[in-house]
Amino acid sequence: MRILIAWGSKRGGTEGIARLLGETLESEGYKVELLPAAAATRAAEFDGVVVGGALYANRWHRAARRFVTKSVNRLRSVPVWLFSSGPLNDSAEKSDISPTKEVRVLMERIGAQGHATFGGRLLPDARGFPASAMAKKHAGDWRSHEHIRAWALEIARALPVARPRVAIDHPGRSPFRLLVHALAGWAACALVMACLLSVTRANVALAIHAALAPIIFVGVARHYFHVPGAREPLQTAFVFVVTTALLDLVVIAGLLQHSLAMFTAIAGTWFPLVLVFLATWATGEILMMVPEVRPGHAPLGVRADS
Ligand SMILES: Cc1cc2nc3c(=O)[nH]c(=O)nc-3n(C[C@H](O)[C@H](O)[C@H](O)COP(=O)(O)O)c2cc1C
Repeated sequence: MRILIAWGSKRGGTEGIARLLGETLESEGYKVELLPAAAATRAAEFDGVVVGGALYANRWHRAARRFVTKSVNRLRSVPVWLFSSGPLNDSAEKSDISPTKEVRVLMERIGAQGHATFGGRLLPDARGFPASAMAKKHAGDWRSHEHIRAWALEIARALPVARPRVAIDHPGRSPFRLLVHALAGWAACALVMACLLSVTRANVALAIHAALAPIIFVGVARHYFHVPGAREPLQTAFVFVVTTALLDLVVIAGLLQHSLAMFTAIAGTWFPLVLVFLATWATGEILMMVPEVRPGHAPLGVRADS
């Protein structure tokens, strides 16, 4: 049987876990293909898949997320296991650390068999901020070879009889829901602008509108992202801004003003659009980083009870 092992890693620690899993599965007679997640969508057919991602600020590595999202149909047809690597302490050895909310949603989407969290690794000479600052206190290698091998053996035993589990299509992911939120944000901004124009001069209204638009979209984005299955923050920000610009073009410029003059106004039109993009993106990223309270998990080496 062929197994694909894919990983998303910034500093090599997760790749090391993937390779150890691969060695163990090979010693159990499986044919293993090891690939970085960014290249794994091109992998040939396989009978089982293991995908791992490093945790950074509570988020699974982007390449691992993208691989799962892009390969949903293929992954739904075979048994899949996910793993995370992160905690820079012994918490992953003391208890089973459940997946982050983001990883749990991905598991539900593909009907994954199971998940494991392994300790992480941070080298003392880690480069880049904030890794270098963190390395001063939290450098170390917390990857337990026994734990990793034991999990690989569990997979080796389960694979011959494993069948893909029921996958969930989260309603929160629907393109319709995304568009409805974009439309709601645009409508709220248009309403604010209409009210402002009725009580003040145009340039004052434009300035207030430019300040309020990102605030409105922070609210819309919060509502959008709190549901499981919401799309990636960058993609969402892009859709919100393009939808808003198109509605401005058709409704405001086309139907109401019969002129494209508003699109020559950097401060009045383009600046608010940039702010809306940044507000939506930042809101999504921040909400995805907020950890759930998970007993026993103190990811960065600070004991939960200290
Ligand atoms: C900036 C930074 C943020 C991190 N955030 C988390 C985190 O939120 N949760 C966690 O368990 N580990 C966290 N870690 C630890 C890493 O997940 C750990 O070092 C992991 O082994 C990195 O994998 P890689 O070497 O494959 O990139 C963080 C590490 C760094 C440097």
